Amino acid sequence: MDQTLGQPEVGDAFGCALRDRLCGSTEPMVLEREDGYIHVGRLDFLNGWDARAEWAVSRALGRVLDVGAGAGRASLALQARDQQVLALDVSPGAVEVCQRRGVREVFRGTAEDAVEAGLTATFDSVLLLGNNLGLLRSADHARSYLDTLGSLLTDNGVIVGTSVTPYDAGDDAMFAYHEQNPRRGRMVGQATQRIRYRRAATSWYDWLSLSPDELADLARPAGWRVTDLFPGRAYAVVLAKHCTAGHGGRWSSE
Ligand SMILES: C[S@@+](CC[C@H](N)C(=O)[O-])C[C@H]1O[C@@H](n2cnc3c(N)ncnc32)[C@H](O)[C@@H]1O
Repeated sequence: MDQTLGQPEVGDAFGCALRDRLCGSTEPMVLEREDGYIHVGRLDFLNGWDARAEWAVSRALGRVLDVGAGAGRASLALQARDQQVLALDVSPGAVEVCQRRGVREVFRGTAEDAVEAGLTATFDSVLLLGNNLGLLRSADHARSYLDTLGSLLTDNGVIVGTSVTPYDAGDDAMFAYHEQNPRRGRMVGQATQRIRYRRAATSWYDWLSLSPDELADLARPAGWRVTDLFPGRAYAVVLAKHCTAGHGGRWSSE
């Protein structure tokens, strides 16, 4: 092997792939996990739509923050329903693709950046489509991330998200990785991974797949509870704030 040819270029691999898809490319994106496991992505981030996506988007009411908007398929669907939506993504390529496809309001950065930019208490719903509950990343990170999302929401705001339960996962390599996670002090469905596209790679990041029960357990101490569920291995949920004393909101405490 010629070492002088170097390693993948670390950068906006996901955004590059979206830009190329917009020009008609079908070159695959690959998810590479730290143990060497690879998975070729099949989801159509431009136009893919199914009953779960429809369920989730139809529960994102009012002004919506589409977190990790990707190519903006949810933002475009919401705009078509005459809802206000801000597409937020860290990827410059994703933000560019959103704009080129007609998403009117975009924000490049993280949810934490949106707080810094003064967007607190301005959204009725946060949408985490495309299994973006993965952005909770780990049990430790989940609490502060839910707090951040909560601060972007109005009082009765909701988080609508999708994920895939890590249990009943397909093959031996997946099972073996999940099995050793608790021995490393991690949740079963935590994965350290990166996206590869042609010669590009994202940085390594943690992504959390979790069951609805695990989500409810993580969300409860942060003041959230699951109020609606689209069931299945690939599922969707609505999270709403616990009622505070005297608040008189829509949801009862557990
Ligand atoms: C799995 S894709 C989902 C895209 C879109 N929600 C959909 O369903 O088509 C994840 C997206 O989240 C973005 N992303 C990753 N980390 C992020 C972060 N910390 N804050 C905001 N966006 C992030 C990625 O750039 C990517 O566009």
